[in-house]
Amino acid sequence: MTVRTRPIGKLDEMPHARLMSGETPIEEMPRLAARLGAARLYVKRDDMTGLAFGGNKVRQLEYYIGEAVAGGADTILITGAVQSNFVRMAAASACKMGMECHIQLENRVPKNDPVYATSGNVLIDKMLGATLYSYPDGEDEAGADARLSEIAGELRAKGQTPYIIHLAPGHPPLGALGYVDAARELLSQCAEKDIELDDVVLASGSGHTHGGMLFGLRALGCPVRVTGVCVRRNAREQRGRISSRCGEIAELLETEPVVEDGDIILKDDFLGAGYGRVNDQVFDAMRLAAETEGLILDPVYTAKAFSGFLECAKAAQEGQVLLFVHTGGTPAIFGYERELSAAFDAPA
Ligand SMILES: Cc1ncc(COP(=O)(O)O)c(C=O)c1O
Repeated sequence: MTVRTRPIGKLDEMPHARLMSGETPIEEMPRLAARLGAARLYVKRDDMTGLAFGGNKVRQLEYYIGEAVAGGADTILITGAVQSNFVRMAAASACKMGMECHIQLENRVPKNDPVYATSGNVLIDKMLGATLYSYPDGEDEAGADARLSEIAGELRAKGQTPYIIHLAPGHPPLGALGYVDAARELLSQCAEKDIELDDVVLASGSGHTHGGMLFGLRALGCPVRVTGVCVRRNAREQRGRISSRCGEIAELLETEPVVEDGDIILKDDFLGAGYGRVNDQVFDAMRLAAETEGLILDPVYTAKAFSGFLECAKAAQEGQVLLFVHTGGTPAIFGYERELSAAFDAPA
């Protein structure tokens, strides 16, 4: 049995909607490796998952939308930051499945910039025909979910059948299943290409990507180090999240809790002033990825995660093999146009 078809608990029995265009490529980054030292460096291009500019959330939405369809929903409700990639891809998924999408945008990043509020992901949300609401607090996950439940009630009263994608913990981590499956895809591609990984580095926000990938790799017996780079909260808080996510994945899939505390590795040195706040480190990471490999990172997630990847690569031993998961977020660069133009207009 190939890795790609190896069962992981009940994964293959879970409701699932096909939204991705296919597997995402793995590319080597030789020019970046030459700049940094001895390690061999790869990138898994999950910015190329294929739906409305792609990104990691397409993998996650396959399981949420699968459950929504199985339950007869006709409307998707979701909440996120103003420049959220998740809500943009939820709106695109809803269009693809013939559903409505209602999006609540939280005031999570303190910014008074009309470009941030209207361009990038927000513009795409509108192009996809989503109904937009705003929520004043960006750090109140339970409150944001409660408001979604109220909107769902209003839609039910009009005869619609809404499905809520919750933000706060305490709900089955369906999104993480997309990355349990991605671990299977990754290992089978590595086997085909004769790549023996030592390290995987990725952004750790809600923890669905980090928790799912880590769980999937361990469930397949792969001991590779998985480093999550914090983009939303500090390492101490994020550790609790990843640990609970991994426990919940085991419950959902009715399989062994394969992740141990020592498997959870987090770096929070690149979080800066907090979620969605940019700084020179962000611009430097974006510049290096672009200059060496033509790779476009986003300022909120992948530039911070890439900074963590660069640190791992610089510390790597001769011959070690590291892989960065590019989780997407590309449209957000247009929401940060002011800061990015100022950074890239200035001499490096
Ligand atoms: C581009 C991008 N990368 C990484 C993440 C973090 O993924 P997760 O929330 O699964 O931890 C997100 C979350 O929205 C994202 O949009």
